[in-house]
Order: sequence, then C-alpha cells, then structure tokens
Amino acid sequence: MAITGKTKILGVIGNPISHTASPLMQNAMLSHLGLSYIYIPILVEPKQLNHFLTAIRATNFVGVNVTIPFKEQVLPFLDELDETARRIGAVNTIVNRNGYLKGYNTDGAGFIMALDRDLQMTVSHKRVCLIGAGGAAHAIAFSLLSEGVSFLGIFNRTHTRAKALVDQLSIYFGRTLCQVQASPDFLDYDIIINTTPVGMASDEIPIPNLDWVRPTHLLCDIVYKPLKTKFLALAEKKGAKICNGIGMLVGQGVLSFELFTGQKADYYFMKKILEDL
Ligand code: ATR
Repeated sequence: MAITGKTKILGVIGNPISHTASPLMQNAMLSHLGLSYIYIPILVEPKQLNHFLTAIRATNFVGVNVTIPFKEQVLPFLDELDETARRIGAVNTIVNRNGYLKGYNTDGAGFIMALDRDLQMTVSHKRVCLIGAGGAAHAIAFSLLSEGVSFLGIFNRTHTRAKALVDQLSIYFGRTLCQVQASPDFLDYDIIINTTPVGMASDEIPIPNLDWVRPTHLLCDIVYKPLKTKFLALAEKKGAKICNGIGMLVGQGVLSFELFTGQKADYYFMKKILEDL
C-alpha cells in the first residue's frame, strides 16, 4: 500500500519496542483490505510519555497499541476509559477521535477469541486456574469471569499479589467465584493457563510437575516464543488439548484493528502472518 498524503497513522508504543510483532500483522491486514493506513513501532522514553500522548491528540494518529511498560502509566493522560479497561486498570489500545483519547483493553477478550477460533471452545461453566497474577493475568481473569466461568483459581508465586487480584475481581464478581489457590489440585480444573513468562526461551515449567494432566484438560500458555513451551509439550504428550500464546496476541490485535478502523479483521489471516515468521 503506497503511503500518500491521505494515509492514516497507527502504531504501538513501548520501551523496548524492537521485539514487537504487531506492525507485521497489522500492516498485512491493512494492506490485504486495501485500507490506507500505516502501523509503526514507536519507542517512547518513559519520562516523555505525556508529551507523546499530547502529540497524538495534535496529529493524524488514529490510535496506538500500548505495550510494556506503559499499559498502566497511560491511564492519567486519557480522556475516557472503556469499562473493561477501567476495571482491569490497564490499557492496550488508545483511539484518537479528533483529539479525544479513549482507552480500551483487548487483551482478555483476545484470549477468549483465540479459544473460540482455534479450538471452538468457550470458557462458560468451566473451572479455570490461572498461574500468575500480573498484568496479563488481570486482563484474562476479568474476561474469564465476564464470560461465565464457574470458578476461577489464582495461583501465584507471591501470595500478596494473588490476593490483590482476587480482591479486585471480587468487587465486580463476588467472593465465591474467584479465590487464591496456594497449592491447587490442578486435576480439579478444566482449563489451566500459564500467564507468567516462565518457559519463554527456557525449558522451565511454571508449576512443579504435570503428572496430574488428563486428556480432558486444556492447558494454555501466553508465552509464544517458543510456540510450544515445555509446559504445552508435556501436556500434549499426556493427551491434553493445548493452546499457545500466539492466539491471544492475534486476538487482541484483531480487536484493536476493529476499534481503530471500524472494519472486521481476519483472525486466521493475521495468525498465519505471525506463524510464518
Ligand atoms: P505481565 O504484565 O506480563 O503479566 P508481570 O506483571 O510482571 O508481567 O507479572 C508476571 C507474573 O509472572 C507474576 O505473577 C509473577 O509472579 P510474582 O507476582 O511472584 O512476581 C510471575 N512470574 C514471573 N517470573 C516467575 C517465575 N520465575 N516463577 C514463577 N512466577 C513468575
């Protein structure tokens, strides 16, 4: 797609930013649909974040995705937050409408989309255990509860962080549906999701063992490098269904694309771009 005077600008802000895969999948989708946009990686100095957001308002930026370390830091500089982003307390998508900035969070819904598109599965009425209680876990947990899981266990290395997440979730969903699990019996769950970085470019797994895994289980990882972490490889060997982290990355991108452009994005098209990397 040629860049002309009418080309609209999108991007992703972060620090560091050189590792991001978003420009590839977003530009491929934009060009496939013949939309006159360009999506660029933007390295922002943390101290200059407010200036960058002021610049967005003042220019023909249609919007930006937000990645580490800015997902929480952008909040005070926005005019409005979508309800999901407000509850999670983090934003991964900012849309600029004539200088008015609205923040959204598509991470959790992206995870739900990946399960639907890749495995034709819903989480409703399922018992789900999250490993980890950081930013990614927050987004996924809110989506899981909104989608009607029957129980959500949170298992984390640091108890206080797991408790803080459960306290935040219980404001909206009550105390019985989500609880901290200090030593979960994983056999009791339908779906187990690793939201920690453990397994990223290493052979570690985020829990002591996977002896309990049965073919009825679904194990998911948000790590996507490698595509099949040891956590997923061991689960697959035991006959369980698995879902890697590419799906969530694509799903959040599909939903951001739709917020930016108002056009439907093709999940499978964008996923293929990343798988072919
Ligand atoms: P993100 O925003 O990507 O979720 P984060 O907010 O730093 O990142 O959260 C990372 C999560 O992975 C946390 O739950 C963290 O556990 P702690 O709360 O105990 O720090 C978890 N985590 C990171 N490294 C880990 C490791 N080596 N073993 C177990 N858990 C780990």
